[in-house]
Amino acid sequence: MVRKQEFTPDVLLRWAEKYGPVVRINAFHRISVLIVCPEGVKEFLMSPQHPKDPTVYGSLFSLFGERFLGNSLVTVCNHEHWHKQRRVMDPAFSRSYLIGLMETFNEKAEELMEKLEEKADGKTEFSMLSMMSRVTMDVIGKAAFGLELNALSDDQTPLPNAVTKIMQGLNKARDPFIRFMPGKQKMLKETRESVRLLRRVGKQCIDQRREAIQNGKEATMDILTQILKGDALEETRDDENILDNFMTFFVAGHETSANQMTFTVMALGQHPEILERAQAEVDEVLGAKRHVDYEDLSKLTFLSQVLKESLRLYPPVSGTLRRPEKEHVINGIRIPANTTVFLNTYVMGRMEKFFKDPLTFDPERFSKDAPKPYYCYFPFSLGPRSCIGQVFAQMEVKVVMAKLLQRFEIQLVPGQNFQLIEAGTLKPLDGVICKLKPRSSARRCQP
Ligand code: HEM
Repeated sequence: MVRKQEFTPDVLLRWAEKYGPVVRINAFHRISVLIVCPEGVKEFLMSPQHPKDPTVYGSLFSLFGERFLGNSLVTVCNHEHWHKQRRVMDPAFSRSYLIGLMETFNEKAEELMEKLEEKADGKTEFSMLSMMSRVTMDVIGKAAFGLELNALSDDQTPLPNAVTKIMQGLNKARDPFIRFMPGKQKMLKETRESVRLLRRVGKQCIDQRREAIQNGKEATMDILTQILKGDALEETRDDENILDNFMTFFVAGHETSANQMTFTVMALGQHPEILERAQAEVDEVLGAKRHVDYEDLSKLTFLSQVLKESLRLYPPVSGTLRRPEKEHVINGIRIPANTTVFLNTYVMGRMEKFFKDPLTFDPERFSKDAPKPYYCYFPFSLGPRSCIGQVFAQMEVKVVMAKLLQRFEIQLVPGQNFQLIEAGTLKPLDGVICKLKPRSSARRCQP
């Protein structure tokens, strides 16, 4: 039974502990199963045979009647169609291309540091999530589409608000009756307007890029170029398909990283000894240097462990769904063909069976010598449909976090309850309200 006000992923966790490893869930006329055993995760995620669930991913085609993600890389369920799109996108995530993005990661992270310095008087309280969402939006705008969005420098830009509205709308769209409720019409209108705004920005961006190419400018090798190349391979070419992928990369490419960084700040603020160790490592690797080099990233091993541990307890994307076309037997339990199968890293990441003392934030779980989690930890999903932006995100996040730790003392404002919500992605409800002070060592940072 669902208890009033209980956070849905925690309901699933309770059921998993009690009824797992295969939990049947009945919601209205639909039956799905939550799988919480490594055997099941391996079977359903690693094999290309099991398509994403078309009912769930198809529902993201539009949001309250406004075309939203359409048939994009993340929502498309047909394997051949997906594979064609993914092959075209891969070069924009190659190692050499990503190394070239270190400039953008550094530039935007440095702008964030300037904004934070203005607030770092030990008294000013602000939402860390809001600042992190702005920096990741500026990064994805520039890195993926060559756009200067200035979300950090311009408080009035409507884009961050539009994304927030869309994510809230996504959550509400699960209620099939919401469209007919008189009290919700304002929310519906604002969500539709936000989707239209983002698609309009995408259209302008695509038109500008095409014009530049027509004027003989060499196309930058970025995500937009690859999206345009992908469209050129389609039998029926349509700007709406291009915009579907613009929306996908824009939304998937910044919300998730911002949430990961905010949760990490929260966890570090709650564990001063871990924060101190992470800062000591950053001091040792970066010293007074402002620019984070690609080579520095692999030296920040403890920070990597902290980031992985943060994704275990607070995965921005808590799970994924498949709909296998054939019957399967998992742990001796028969799962009929065409059942919705739900795999959830939030749930498995918090089970004692897989992680000892699971609610304790302990980066040592991810140290070099610790046993590797075996198909029970998948914040970027696993297998063919895993996150294409995983390395991009982890480079970006490390650059921003390293600079933050290098420059500031972080204090969480007391009295917050750090509740989680699922609004499109998993995020902290109150945004993690912080106060900062410059670190004494940060004054020595090179100009
Ligand atoms: C901390 C940051 C991130 C997390 C935790 C994350 C997580 C995920 C997960 C769990 C999936 C699978 C979704 C599903 O099965 O429905 C996914 C897919 C995807 N992600 Fe990410 N992501 C992150 C950052 C990024 C970034 C930075 C980009 C783009 C630059 C990106 C682009 C995508 C795309 C396009 C897909 C669909 C891939 C496919 O199906 O081929 N993500 N991500």
